[in-house]
Amino acid sequence: MSARHLVTGGAGFIGAGLVRALVGAGHAVRVLDDFSRGRSHRLEGIDGIETLTGDVRDAAALRAAAEGCAVIWHLAWINGTRYFYERPDAVLDVGIRGTLNAIDAALDAGATRFVFASTSEVYNRPDRVPTPEDERLLIPDVTNPRFSYGGGKIAGELLTLHMAARRGLEAVIFRPHNIYGPDMGFAHVIPEIVERIIDLSDGLRRDAITLPIQGDGRETRAFCHIDDAAEGIRLAGEQGKSGAIYHVGRNEETAIADLIRRIGDCLGIALTLEPGPLQPGGTPRRCPDIARLAALGYASKVDLDTGLADAVGWYRDHFMASRGA
Ligand SMILES: NC(=O)c1ccc[n+]([C@@H]2O[C@H](COP(=O)([O-])OP(=O)(O)OC[C@H]3O[C@@H](n4cnc5c(N)ncnc54)[C@H](O)[C@@H]3O)[C@@H](O)[C@H]2O)c1
Repeated sequence: MSARHLVTGGAGFIGAGLVRALVGAGHAVRVLDDFSRGRSHRLEGIDGIETLTGDVRDAAALRAAAEGCAVIWHLAWINGTRYFYERPDAVLDVGIRGTLNAIDAALDAGATRFVFASTSEVYNRPDRVPTPEDERLLIPDVTNPRFSYGGGKIAGELLTLHMAARRGLEAVIFRPHNIYGPDMGFAHVIPEIVERIIDLSDGLRRDAITLPIQGDGRETRAFCHIDDAAEGIRLAGEQGKSGAIYHVGRNEETAIADLIRRIGDCLGIALTLEPGPLQPGGTPRRCPDIARLAALGYASKVDLDTGLADAVGWYRDHFMASRGA
């Protein structure tokens, strides 16, 4: 068995996928999570992992977790747009203090590699789509608490490159783009649309409905299934060049209206979409250039229809069961 890996936030949606990919590649894995959003059932059935409960703001807890680990994957963060507005102080505290603690713990443990989870949100509205990793980063309004998330991630990238790498760790950053899959939480377009379709179709008893949507659905995103993302993250983190940044995602741009129609198809409901007002501040297009990750040998294996059938099926079962159907 190879050297031990620590995954902070390892009970989260992406973290658990990454843990599974690392174990699949033969690594011993330890997880540190405060279980604020992490769920232990996501790690059930993964052999030989060690799970610790702790807060990344607690330097001693992180030092203890990192002991004996050669690679530190730092994913723990406060996610969810609601929190960016309601608790920007906590978002920045967990983000920046947690990253400083994780780098210090990696150095104390004599680890060789530090891998940092950033986000596509560091671009805000990118000038170039598909967006390459050298696109400029942007905090459009520092007074808006929304940017506690993207701003904290930009700070984390600076700490990774100019502190972790400078002090002797190999340091790699990955920026995930719209990762989806079963059990990804509920504050996301896929679970939200599945739930509204179930409600408006009277528990899937009707075969056609009108669905009001935000805007006209022309905004685009590129959706990447968790199985692809976990493998892409593992590849970037293990084989990526120190000091480099890698996009993790799929480079197929999909309009939100098209995504919603495909969700309807998965549920067997024909949808007539009714455009409505769009929340201000959204990004009209997002799609990563993934050539850098592809050069490491990454190739997506899960197309959108296959991945959506998986995710929509999980949420359909969840919502139907919670309605006693
Ligand atoms: N899901 C996406 O599409 C996406 C996109 C871009 C970036 N990311 C980044 O990838 C990483 C994982 O995201 P995710 O979607 O799995 O989110 P998630 O919320 O499911 O996972 C985050 C994990 O961190 C844990 N955590 C939060 N605060 C903590 C603390 N103080 N101490 C210890 N653990 C703490 C949570 O309990 C959770 O298990 C995050 O850094 C996120 O910002 C995700």
